[in-house]
Amino acid sequence: MSQPLPAHIWPLTATIANGRLHLGGCDVEALAARYGTPLYVFDEATLRGAMRAYQAAFRAQGLPFRVHYAAKALLNTAIAQLVATEGLGLDVVSGAELDVARRAGIPMAHVHLHGNAKRTEELARAVAWGVGAVVVDNLDELDRLAALTARHTSPQGVLLRLAPNIAAHTHAHIATGGADAKFGLPLEALDQAVEHVLAAPGLRLRGLHAHIGSQLFALDQLRATMAVLVEQAARLRTRYALTVEELSPGGGLGVPSLAEQAPPDLDAYAEVLARTLRAGCAAHSLPLPYLTVEPGRSIVARAGVALYTIVARKLTADGRPCYLHIDGGMADNIRPALYDARYSAVLASRADAAPGPPVSVAGRYCEAGDVLLRAVSLPIARPGELLAVATAGAYTLSMASTYNLVPRPAVVLVAGGRARLIQRRETEAELLARDLRLDEVSDD
Ligand code: LLP
Repeated sequence: MSQPLPAHIWPLTATIANGRLHLGGCDVEALAARYGTPLYVFDEATLRGAMRAYQAAFRAQGLPFRVHYAAKALLNTAIAQLVATEGLGLDVVSGAELDVARRAGIPMAHVHLHGNAKRTEELARAVAWGVGAVVVDNLDELDRLAALTARHTSPQGVLLRLAPNIAAHTHAHIATGGADAKFGLPLEALDQAVEHVLAAPGLRLRGLHAHIGSQLFALDQLRATMAVLVEQAARLRTRYALTVEELSPGGGLGVPSLAEQAPPDLDAYAEVLARTLRAGCAAHSLPLPYLTVEPGRSIVARAGVALYTIVARKLTADGRPCYLHIDGGMADNIRPALYDARYSAVLASRADAAPGPPVSVAGRYCEAGDVLLRAVSLPIARPGELLAVATAGAYTLSMASTYNLVPRPAVVLVAGGRARLIQRRETEAELLARDLRLDEVSDD
């Protein structure tokens, strides 16, 4: 092991031996040779470690809690199986995500269905499969859910999602708690929603939910969110004599992707939420409800490393490389283009070599904004070399597209020197299988 990597942005098992990056005891050059690139490598120890750290942080607070992994950050059956074995619940937002939860053996009581535009068929499936809660976003959804469950003998649990009117300090595209955000019931509509649930024989109000945004590093607004939830719970008790059994301030804890950024303190996060909940409940003589948190990014981001092959370079007039062109980009990681997200990278076979002049890494897609890394420090690289991008586990594959008809990458899970292919690389044949020639198409 030579020069260390900035440990907090690489997987727990990342090491460099003879200049070569290893993850989970596997040489990443060998993984790329075996599975091709782009390749997403997930480190099992980091995934399990993050899930255990969440459980431990909340267990230490001594109150009833649940940790639900937010599937939207990354979902495949193998990851969901890890979630199941670690005893976390799962938050899903579509019928197919719900299906993955079932395939992975996650108890349905620990699955919540989220979303602002759930289809009736998805609601019906979630109810039929017995999800722990449908997190209701709006009054129209409530109407449909009440109608759907009207004749049910065992009522479906619901959480009502509030827009707590708290503007999170994060990129505007991932701030979701403002009064004008598209998600959640305005506070003024809460009573109407509660009355609707109380009047619906097939529904049971389990509690309240809010999620103010993602990639949050400060805890003050999460504390404020928790405080709003407790206040509303206390108000509902006074007004309707109902006791909520669950409050959820969502997910959103930030993840650093650069060496100079510090990670948020998970124990402090758990402590702030627990203290705010306890104090609010004591002040209003409320029994302590379950505290449910829904981390996505902070479970999977650091565990994932994206591997790309450098295909070509663009040189400046004086012959210095100013762009490295790679075989992936915005279709497997839209985050730099969409949120100005920044990443860190090394050359996988010369991870400890001295850096050359700053260079940008351009994706292969036909879009000027498809630049994965801007002006980063890397050793002077040649075509054919392998680039490893850290903290690539969250909101990359789950937001992947097939732009330019490029098949989506393969995914492997590494642990103890063993690599397991958990998602095959998409083939061109699979991509084209849904595409019909005009002379094959019939009228219906
Ligand atoms: N709960 C709810 C209701 C959510 O909407 C989300 C994320 C989470 C939990 C998990 O948040 P996390 O812990 O992952 O921050 N595509 C964006 C992030 C969108 C987040 C959507 N909701 C990105 O790449 O930054």
